[in-house]
Amino acid sequence: MRRMFSMHLLAFGLCVPLVLAAPTASSQFQLPPDLGPKKLKLVRAHAINISTHSWELGTLAEALTELEWPQLGVFGPGSIPPPTRLNKGEAKDVLSIAENVVAHKPPGLPLIDGDGAVGDPASLGVAVLLRNWTLPSYEGSCFGTAASEQLDYLLHVALRAPNGAISQRVSQVQLWADFVYMAPPFIAYYGALECGHRGEFLLKTAYEQVKFYREVLFDQKVGLWRHIDLGQGIDPTHWGTGNAWAAAGALRVLATIQRSSAVQSMTSQQVDLVRWVQETLDGVWKHQQPNGTLLNYLDEPGSFADSSSTALLAATTFRFASMTGNTTHIPAAIRALRLIRNSVDKHGWLRNTVNPLLFSAPSGPGQHSPEGQSFVLLLEAAVSAWKSSYSYVSPGSE
Ligand SMILES: *[C@@H]1O[C@H](CO)[C@@H](O)[C@H](O)[C@H]1NC(C)=O
Ligand SMILES: *[C@@H]1O[C@H](CO)[C@@H](O)[C@H](O)[C@H]1NC(C)=O
Ligand SMILES: *[C@@H]1O[C@H](CO)[C@@H](O)[C@H](O)[C@H]1NC(C)=O
Ligand SMILES: *[C@@H]1O[C@H](CO)[C@@H](O)[C@H](O)[C@H]1NC(C)=O
Repeated sequence: MRRMFSMHLLAFGLCVPLVLAAPTASSQFQLPPDLGPKKLKLVRAHAINISTHSWELGTLAEALTELEWPQLGVFGPGSIPPPTRLNKGEAKDVLSIAENVVAHKPPGLPLIDGDGAVGDPASLGVAVLLRNWTLPSYEGSCFGTAASEQLDYLLHVALRAPNGAISQRVSQVQLWADFVYMAPPFIAYYGALECGHRGEFLLKTAYEQVKFYREVLFDQKVGLWRHIDLGQGIDPTHWGTGNAWAAAGALRVLATIQRSSAVQSMTSQQVDLVRWVQETLDGVWKHQQPNGTLLNYLDEPGSFADSSSTALLAATTFRFASMTGNTTHIPAAIRALRLIRNSVDKHGWLRNTVNPLLFSAPSGPGQHSPEGQSFVLLLEAAVSAWKSSYSYVSPGSE
């Protein structure tokens, strides 16, 4: 780094004060060694191979977009609207998930069976909208119809809580923190592509859903989200992955608003979303363990270490810093990054995950977490975006 700096001095002469004023992450932050392309490829291959449930596929599509096709993801500048034609092979893996889902979609229903969940199928909606947008309209129409039927289900068919929150369950009114990652980012993206009054209405709807969910689930006393509330079978714990879904989902909604034509008219909503992500990150990292991990139940010292939530919360922290310039939690995110990279074994599996179907127990021997594999990809995508936003120079170049 020091050598790079002196080269700047020589090359740019009078520009030096500007160079010095720019934040250079390398001078303040030391990143752990990279995962390396070989391991990253294995992580990706497993993520693709073992994702089957609606939310796993939706999260995978988002992870592949952010990692491989950042120009098309909502964190990429200029990504909205996407181009109407893609280059050959561009986003092929993401679009094939959308194609496969729409090919099997029953008419008039959500995109895919959601195992009783309202929000989870909608997580695939962003990829379906991208497919629609990048095809000639006569070829895209089935994707456009599929996306609009999914939206209609969320807005007009699903049950609602008294405050207006769309229920996460089909059979009863019940809110899960998970919903925040599944549905609001889709509603927002739909609105951002649509523009005009209805587009802005949808962006505001996405924002309001985050707000309504927070009203019910955010535990002000400790600054953490409860997992499930209302109805039969609540889970009042401060589940790590629930907090990760909530913070990461709210941040995607924020990024979508910022790339949309409503960026000027929705300023107060952006302020709120920044605050809501920040308060969650504040609450979460307080409970980070010395080796960088978070616990499955964040504030219960007897709980087990969970790498899945640690990965998604670290990803969200890097994204948050890139978007706001606030690096308060970057040291925590870097400790988490080191732990995650060390937790990916030589076969490309993320170890020490929570069993995502049970919430309360670690994955058993030989079991792996599909969403955990995708969270590693989201983390690597977020770190590389952060590095470029801070003109990071790797320690290797010193
Ligand atoms: C996917 O899983 C199947 C078994 O379920 C295995 O045979 C195959 O090698 C896996 N593919 C990759 C790319 O990991
Ligand atoms: C699908 O794409 C077409 C452009 O090809 C666009 O006019 C239409 O609004 C899109 N549908 C949705 C639901 O975004
Ligand atoms: C990290 O620390 C926690 C306890 O705080 C422990 O349970 C976990 O096994 C440790 N993880 C690794 C990978 O060493
Ligand atoms: C940055 O975030 C921290 C907490 O996350 C907050 O206390 C601080 O005020 C923020 N700084 C700015 C400039 O917003």
